[in-house]
Amino acid sequence: MTPESHSLTGTDDPSLGPPPGCPAHGLGPGGVRRLYGPEAEDLGAVYEKLRAEHGPVAPVLLHDDVPIWVVLGHAENMHMARTPSQFCRDSRLWTAVQDGTVKPDHPLMPIIAWQPMCSHAEGDEHLRLRGAVTAAMSTIDYRGIRRHINRATQYLVNKFCEEGRADLVSQFCEHLPMAVMCEILGMPNEYNDRIVQAARDLLKGTETSIASNAYIMDALMRLTALRRAAPKEDFTSHLINHPARLNDEEIGQHLRLVLIAAYENTANLLANVLRVVLTDPRFRAQLNGGQMTVPEAVEQSLWDEPPFSTILGYFAKQDTELGGQRIRKGDGLLLGIAPGNVDPRVRPDLKANMQGNRSHLAFSGGPHECPGQDIGRAIADVGVDALLTRLPDIQLDCEEHELRWQASISNRHLVELPVKFAPRPQQDVTQQPSINPAPRQSPNNWRVGTQEPSATASEPATAVAEPTPMPEPARRPGLFRRLLRWWGGK
Ligand code: HEM
Repeated sequence: MTPESHSLTGTDDPSLGPPPGCPAHGLGPGGVRRLYGPEAEDLGAVYEKLRAEHGPVAPVLLHDDVPIWVVLGHAENMHMARTPSQFCRDSRLWTAVQDGTVKPDHPLMPIIAWQPMCSHAEGDEHLRLRGAVTAAMSTIDYRGIRRHINRATQYLVNKFCEEGRADLVSQFCEHLPMAVMCEILGMPNEYNDRIVQAARDLLKGTETSIASNAYIMDALMRLTALRRAAPKEDFTSHLINHPARLNDEEIGQHLRLVLIAAYENTANLLANVLRVVLTDPRFRAQLNGGQMTVPEAVEQSLWDEPPFSTILGYFAKQDTELGGQRIRKGDGLLLGIAPGNVDPRVRPDLKANMQGNRSHLAFSGGPHECPGQDIGRAIADVGVDALLTRLPDIQLDCEEHELRWQASISNRHLVELPVKFAPRPQQDVTQQPSINPAPRQSPNNWRVGTQEPSATASEPATAVAEPTPMPEPARRPGLFRRLLRWWGGK
């Protein structure tokens, strides 16, 4: 069955739909299930109904009742992602875009609209753009990055360890990936509360999103200009100097793609792993007993709560068949990461421990498979490990059922993760995280930049605008500036 396009006439008014409890509740025109609106608040339950009704590929409706297929089967998702001769990521091929069913003001337009980036490109153009991104990634010094993740975790934990309580989402998970990515891209001076806020705001699609996007693009385009003039040993310089010769616009778009893809997904992964560690007795007992490593906990979380729940979308390049459904050329399909990960054909027992098995769909597969997965995993592995080492008695500071989630078609993430622990003194960020730390060095003698230079160098103070400093703790003036200088290798 091919999803049919439905006109939004008066008779299709969703407000005139059947009452809750009626079997037709949650259905749109043609009896097709909606993936939006109040009926779709629990998308996991909707996917299971669809699987029971249609099998591994089901017709559904997006906002404005735009028809699309959702791929629910693990094997079918993998087949789609790995068969570029039949399915691609170029939304310009989507019939619903071509015939105007998707209106320019569609709420999902920011992720539907085609852009000249590797995530939407195909064939030779994809090879050119992605080749430059992966080549630049291959120059990253992973040992240096792990050291940096440890230091950034120490720095973040220092900001709340004396309080005895914190919200890990806003005070840890949303900061660590940004601190690490600013370092990798070569702009450690740009890491501050403001850029974290801008990235969060950009993804919310609020009225201020355009200004937030402009703030981030401004930082990235200044960095591009600097590195064109004087390359250094960082991701941005390698991207610029790749033989594919990306122009400034392409460099800026790919820096933004990498920064935002890394920030959002890794922040959600960190929160999910920490929630599981804090709430699931299996993990807590196993982590303490040393039977399950943090990397295994990360992999389990990538199965159970993948940071991207679906990817919009893939598009059929020709008439074909998938999961028993007839797919027409130009049909759109959602890569169903979350439903594919719980496909009963690969996971008959959802409670079973996956023991580090990596065949989940969290990073997709095929030509567009996430090239940053090792970085995402490293941030989660090292960050969670360091946090647990610093605060081994950390506990959830509310009932598990009180945790609030925010869900959209693309992801489901925790709004906050309140925790409590015995208040502890700050630690020297240059040391390995420890339960029994060596006393902190006197701030007056703290010259970390000379002890262990940063993996990347920062620009002269005149070249990049001074970042808005984070509020500094009153008792230790100047710490943030010294930290920035040290991160910058000065
Ligand atoms: C836990 C963290 C992460 C998750 C779950 C994740 C997941 C994904 C997924 C599902 C895709 C789409 C694949 C498709 O189109 O089928 C993707 C693409 C991508 N990701 Fe990640 N990602 C993560 C972290 C990162 C990081 C840290 C970076 C960069 C350092 C990154 C860079 C990219 C890029 C550049 C693409 C586009 C690749 C292409 O289209 O060829 N991601 N990611």
